[in-house]
Amino acid sequence: MRTSVLLALVPAVQGLRIIHSNDDGWAELYTRSFHDVLVAAGHDVVLSAPAENKSGTGSSDAEPSIRTTACQYNSCPAGSNSPIGVNATNPRLNWVNSFPVTSMRYGIDTIAPQFWNGEPPELAVAGPNVGSNLYLQVPFSGTIGSSVFASKERKVPAIAFSGVSSGTLPWNTSPVPQRSLVYAQLAGKIVDAVIKGGAPYLPEDVFLNVNFPKVEGQCTDASKFKFVLSRINLGWFSAPDVQTCGSTRLPIDLSVVNSSGCYVSISVGDANDKTTAPAEKQAVVLAKLKSLLTCLP
Ligand SMILES: *[C@@H]1O[C@H](CO)[C@@H](O)[C@H](O)[C@H]1NC(C)=O
Ligand SMILES: *[C@@H]1O[C@H](CO)[C@@H](O)[C@H](O)[C@H]1NC(C)=O
Ligand SMILES: *[C@@H]1O[C@H](CO)[C@@H](O)[C@H](O)[C@H]1NC(C)=O
Repeated sequence: MRTSVLLALVPAVQGLRIIHSNDDGWAELYTRSFHDVLVAAGHDVVLSAPAENKSGTGSSDAEPSIRTTACQYNSCPAGSNSPIGVNATNPRLNWVNSFPVTSMRYGIDTIAPQFWNGEPPELAVAGPNVGSNLYLQVPFSGTIGSSVFASKERKVPAIAFSGVSSGTLPWNTSPVPQRSLVYAQLAGKIVDAVIKGGAPYLPEDVFLNVNFPKVEGQCTDASKFKFVLSRINLGWFSAPDVQTCGSTRLPIDLSVVNSSGCYVSISVGDANDKTTAPAEKQAVVLAKLKSLLTCLP
């Protein structure tokens, strides 16, 4: 009796040190819904994201400048006169007055180690971005840029999340719309699966680029979504992909989220150039996520 009670209290997945960033701004609702899911799952999460919308700034990185105006949605007061800032009642929520990559860099190097006795993060996540980051959008995305930075420059396994349903909303929107909750739950499910695959959570110098389809019609409940291994760029002239679903050519991410049936694309990205990682690295991810992944019809 006592043993089963104790076991029931153990979280399903081991809690990790997770650094969380985005490009839509630290006070964007999709990001905060995901933050809540990670905290509820027992992770030690530190958010470090731009003070305002910095969408489309790719891998730009510049020392944060002194902020005098209020942050996005009035989420920090005017006159802070500081390059970085924190939510006074929840110091795990931080803003950096610069680009997405800079906020990830400050988060990993400066902000989060204070909470973790100087230890580095075990996982980096970004988003969910408001709007897709598919195919030709990938090089320009700050969500991708910040994940690539974590993977390539700090060797922290990194996952970029984006949702096709768009429409930006402040962090304190009530009630929280279904799309924000569903994307947060789906992202949490993928984080769980990656962690269950064991350390090292991802091969070196890769990032996962995850895109959720629209939350509408049949696809309004997280349990309805399916997950498909995909590629970022067209594969016409590329070496074969990992063999799966009866093929050595993975579907492009765009066609996965565009298929009817609530399909989430998961691409294994190469952090050196933001294209699709080679087959041997895809194979490692395929093996780790086997129980989560399905094939397109
Ligand atoms: C955020 O920035 C991008 C790129 O500049 C822009 O397209 C988008 O409309 C902005 N979003 C908001 C809510 O201001
Ligand atoms: C700051 O944290 C408090 C406590 O968690 C919360 O109620 C408030 O909405 C947060 N504000 C921002 C801008 O993060
Ligand atoms: C796929 O893309 C086409 C063309 O952009 C669009 O008309 C169609 O609605 C999309 N289908 C789904 C399921 O998203």
